[in-house]
Amino acid sequence: MNIKNLWTLLLAALVIGSGEVVAQSTQYNASITPSTQHNTITPAPVVAVWGEESVDLCKGLSLYIAAEEEDAVRLEAAACDMGIELRSVRRPARKGYLNLEVVPAAELAEIVDMRYAEEGYVMDITAQGVSIKAPSAAGLYYGLQSLAQIYETEGRHTTCHVADAPRFGYRGVLIDISRHFRTKEFLMRQIDQMAAVKMNRLHLHLTDAAGWRLEVESYPRLTSYAAWRTPDTWKEWWYGDRRHVDEGTEGAYGGYLTKAEARELVAYAADRYITIIPEIEMPGHSDEVLAAYPELRCTQQPERQGDLCIGKEATFEMMQAILDEVIEIFPSEYIHIGGDEAGKSSWKECDDCRRRMEEEGLESVDELQSYMIHRIEEYLNARGRQIIGWDEILEGGLAPNATVMSWRGEEGGIAAAAAGHDAIMSPHGYCYIDAPQDAPYSQPESIGGYLPLEKVYSYEPTPESMDESVARHIIGVQANLWAEFIPTDKHYEHMLWPRAIAVAEIGWSQPEHRDFALFRERAVRIVDDMLERGYTPFDLKNEIGNRPESLEPVEHLAVGKSVSYLYPSFYYAPQYAAAGDATLTDGLRGTWTYADKRWQGFLGRGGVDVIVDMGEVTHVESIAADFMQICGPGVFMPCRVEIWGSVDGENYELLTDIEHEVVVDELPSFKSFGWEGSADVRYIRYKAHRSKFSGFLFTDEIIVR
Ligand code: ACM
Ligand code: ZN
Repeated sequence: MNIKNLWTLLLAALVIGSGEVVAQSTQYNASITPSTQHNTITPAPVVAVWGEESVDLCKGLSLYIAAEEEDAVRLEAAACDMGIELRSVRRPARKGYLNLEVVPAAELAEIVDMRYAEEGYVMDITAQGVSIKAPSAAGLYYGLQSLAQIYETEGRHTTCHVADAPRFGYRGVLIDISRHFRTKEFLMRQIDQMAAVKMNRLHLHLTDAAGWRLEVESYPRLTSYAAWRTPDTWKEWWYGDRRHVDEGTEGAYGGYLTKAEARELVAYAADRYITIIPEIEMPGHSDEVLAAYPELRCTQQPERQGDLCIGKEATFEMMQAILDEVIEIFPSEYIHIGGDEAGKSSWKECDDCRRRMEEEGLESVDELQSYMIHRIEEYLNARGRQIIGWDEILEGGLAPNATVMSWRGEEGGIAAAAAGHDAIMSPHGYCYIDAPQDAPYSQPESIGGYLPLEKVYSYEPTPESMDESVARHIIGVQANLWAEFIPTDKHYEHMLWPRAIAVAEIGWSQPEHRDFALFRERAVRIVDDMLERGYTPFDLKNEIGNRPESLEPVEHLAVGKSVSYLYPSFYYAPQYAAAGDATLTDGLRGTWTYADKRWQGFLGRGGVDVIVDMGEVTHVESIAADFMQICGPGVFMPCRVEIWGSVDGENYELLTDIEHEVVVDELPSFKSFGWEGSADVRYIRYKAHRSKFSGFLFTDEIIVR
């Protein structure tokens, strides 16, 4: 059913329903736009009709739960967490009640036709009490979260009718505990907050080069060795010797979840209707496995290449034994098997890999990886599980039942969906919340461009232009928090919240109910509440916002003037062309990120060397351009800038020659290199030299005044 029709249906239900419902309809102001009058429920619900009456329910309610025993225990715990005095009863009370009832979806006409009605709920708050009905206990749990949010925001309960269900079935967060280990307790705290915003999947990145983080009895060196290193921080380790050490070594940093802890975590998440999806990386990102079990290396494999040898049967024996233990701990339908960023080069040289390719008729190393993923899928399918892999598992042929997690963009997810596979969207441009969320100088060291809450929120997993046959297979969305630069709990929470809440709303709310201004208002409140509860989210109230220079077009004498480039040494890199030849005089300044199609990137040996033709001899008093530096991805300031002027385009006069000492630093920086004086010129030559660090030069505009 079309969502808009839900509103009509709701009104119809109020009019034609039972006497009780008709009586209620007089309490509600039917002219109110659904879900916006009281901006309290997160994610924004499908339908919320608010009454005028404020009711005080906190004095004590009779809690009646109709659900399976295990769920009843969970729901009672969740209800008791809300700060309402409750008394459990065996029959629904007539007054002063909180009734939680699992009912057949068919009884919930407003949501029954929604794809994920199973997780939906219908809630009525009246002067008599609160009734929540849902097709599943998860739906009741979500209804309770909405009830708690209304109370927390308003300090009272307003009579209302809410009919709600998620837009997507998969609403996830990835937490990387390999690069920096995080404890069970830390993960539980994040699970609490995920549950409060109705997220339902926690993807645990348990294994990677920097540390293996799950006890495996059959391969004990994974945790007695591969889980430990001496430098605490990933950065020191990665740029150092990248070695592991034995557990118990003096000064060793690391850790892992024991099986008992992992089980406890699974149960804790399940109590909050969250499924934990473990990720066991293969065949790439497996340096730590090879460090512990070097016999799984390819022959002649360079030490810093972390791909498992696919030619050796021992690799399969090991991965299967690990997965046997993993599925015993994690009951999730999905097991994530990684599949991303394998280097693949050692496979070409390895006798075992070459033999495997010959025997199996595999024509490329992509097909060799695909062979492994197919085999692992078969192994897990036979044990009742399904695989998820990063979008690289499309290369060389997708395993028949695999679900694809699209990270390099959306293309992988779309291709998988078009081929009839399910896909989960986590494109890095929107969902990689390891990028800074505010002015980079105000943020801790991080990876990638500027990713503020608003940009995350703007993500649309299934735009209208997407074919319905493809959209049907996009089952959800996930925020990914990689932890290379995140050594502490506080820093971790700072990166995670509130951006993960934006992903929760993308995953739950219908596009027509998504409104950034309203969302931000709620996010600020949630952040304040989290701060009060001792979390360390990014404090949205203090957001600085985008680079001020980028907010308005800049007026100057060279806007629209032609720029000529020296090809190829001084030409811009095709992936950072921005607006091509027009970029440097288009009046648009760059934002905090070089990936914004405003900054132009130069990778050629020479750096920047361009000539701006002013069209006629022009009196100028200043010429300047900005550069940025972000050392991580190799973006550096120039070490020297020359600015020349010419009347005839043949004879140039040097206006300024600036030397600049380029120093590697942690935080992104921005700097203008320019000349001020007085000259009459038609042609301006702006030349910026690359430093000894080479990498990229990025500039956004040559401003002439
Ligand atoms: C990934 O970011 N390599 C999945
Ligand atoms: Zn090999």
